[in-house]
Amino acid sequence: MIPMLDLKKEFLEIQDEVIGTVTEILKSTRYVLGPHVEEFEKQFSRFLTGSDVNGLHSLGVASGTGALFLSLASLSIKKGDEVITTPFTFFATVESILYMGAKPVFVDIDDETLNIDVNKIEDKITKKTRAILPVHLFGLPCNMDRVMDIANSHNLHVIEDCAQSTGAQINGRRTGTFGDTGCFSFYPSKNLGCYGDGGAVVTKSDTIYERIRTLRNHGSCGNYVHHEVGFNSRLDEIQAGVLLIKLRRLDEKNRMRRENANLYTSLLKDVVRCPAEPDGYVHSYHQYTIRSAHRDKIKETLANEGISSVVYYPSPIHLQEALKGQGLKRGDLPVSEQAASEVLSLPVYPEMPAESIRKVADIIQSCL
Ligand SMILES: Cc1ncc(COP(=O)(O)O)c(C=O)c1O
Repeated sequence: MIPMLDLKKEFLEIQDEVIGTVTEILKSTRYVLGPHVEEFEKQFSRFLTGSDVNGLHSLGVASGTGALFLSLASLSIKKGDEVITTPFTFFATVESILYMGAKPVFVDIDDETLNIDVNKIEDKITKKTRAILPVHLFGLPCNMDRVMDIANSHNLHVIEDCAQSTGAQINGRRTGTFGDTGCFSFYPSKNLGCYGDGGAVVTKSDTIYERIRTLRNHGSCGNYVHHEVGFNSRLDEIQAGVLLIKLRRLDEKNRMRRENANLYTSLLKDVVRCPAEPDGYVHSYHQYTIRSAHRDKIKETLANEGISSVVYYPSPIHLQEALKGQGLKRGDLPVSEQAASEVLSLPVYPEMPAESIRKVADIIQSCL
């Protein structure tokens, strides 16, 4: 049996520390927001910027989805506005735009990177466009230099969806630090995962920081004083305590993922399309996603040998039933549609032994 990830192995490595911290928090009776959340916010800013004194604010929130909602709300994105994004992502990216009453405007993906095709963004900008929402899919950063240039020249906001890219870099700069906000998910399976739901928004703007601090807590700017309608999207102390422990190990865990990914690529590059990693980019390999016209056969053969693999994502978002009202159809975003029929994510978790990688690669080679 080779699973997609082995959270138990990881937990056993940090068990004593986690139980110590959680016990201390339980005894403190301070459970939602509080000193662990504040310390995590400080450490997360430090992790992203590599500096002690920095201008990046982090805010612990209830989930990656919460981070996206709060970002859009803090920029006052509303009905009638358009937000440019990718159709090849997890549903939450687009859901957050729709919930604000705004219109998602899809730009097809780049065939090599599977991220939004930066050369096609400008064609979709209209008078109603307010923001670009790129997703660093599977942990590979988007071309943020180009995205920021386009945004600056058209006076648009940028919200980075970093749910899958915690720790990934472009020329030494971590994802989340380019746009107006960076949105992170700490869902248990993520590169930095807690033991429940959790997320963070990061921003360099003092104004956005203050607005999200209020919005995450019912728009409250003091005890029972509400100047606007907000959300309940707060990080809890137990999750923040766990995240502090795991954050210290994240660079090492991402290094282990990268080592596994490089081994896969060396073994598989002649039989399937392996993930791209342009020069200067550091992929965080949240997923190691291959492409093949024989995807379904590979998946079935692996399953017969007790090896897990997952199709992220079998349908691009514009073809989902929930998007019917947007008026898009098959054929409108062909690169995404083709990718959805070919992608397969293989297990690449940090603790995965090299012999398991070799076994997966052997089976793929022999079935093709
Ligand atoms: C690309 C992307 N965006 C947003 C989210 C939402 O994060 P969460 O599950 O923490 O709400 C996820 C998580 O699965 C994701 O993969």
